[in-house]
Amino acid sequence: MQQRIRILGISGSTRSASLNTKLLHALSKLAPANVEIEVLEGLEKLPFYNEDFEGENLPPSVVELRKKVSEADGIIISSPEYNYSFSALTKNTIDWLSRPYAKGVLSDMPVAITGASPGVLGTVRSQNQLRQVLHATNSKVLSRPEVYIGGAHAKFDTGGAFTEEAGRKMLIELIDNLATLIEQTRENQPSELAS
Ligand SMILES: Cc1cc2nc3c(=O)[nH]c(=O)nc-3n(C[C@H](O)[C@H](O)[C@H](O)COP(=O)(O)O)c2cc1C
Repeated sequence: MQQRIRILGISGSTRSASLNTKLLHALSKLAPANVEIEVLEGLEKLPFYNEDFEGENLPPSVVELRKKVSEADGIIISSPEYNYSFSALTKNTIDWLSRPYAKGVLSDMPVAITGASPGVLGTVRSQNQLRQVLHATNSKVLSRPEVYIGGAHAKFDTGGAFTEEAGRKMLIELIDNLATLIEQTRENQPSELAS
């Protein structure tokens, strides 16, 4: 039997009709039966990152987020591109998850990146920057496939399903490859039973 895999989806937009949030929900429907993708909510309620809050002053929303991410097997980030970069919400979320230094919950975490935009380039510029940031957090970033969803406003049906065939294949490949990376990460970790 295949092992259960729990993935959290981080959308860089809390806009009610967000294409990036829609994309994550569409991904969760494309995932195989053993893979669960939960799209995180409430990220806009996190305060702006402030190192003064680390330690005993950590806001409950951050405590809860770090716990939730620490219990996940992997992450998928879908962020809008704002002025050629990923959104401030995405960065703020990553900054909170990156601390304490070298012990943040993103360290060694398998992470896949995607993004949706109405424009033709489909977040290619911002995804490249996001890769660099996730290098700083010591995350295991999936390198292939690179999935840039351009013209995204025309690629969902009224029920939120992703309708474009070529893109759908790439999204399925993205989940499959992330699941493989998660399994490889598990195999490389020392077994609790062995200690
Ligand atoms: C401040 C701002 C800057 C934007 N800059 C870009 C950009 O650099 N590249 C791009 O493809 N789209 C850009 N857009 C358009 C966004 O891709 C579009 O609004 C998208 O739908 C936002 O993501 P969401 O639907 O998940 O909220 C920008 C939108 C805003 C509001």
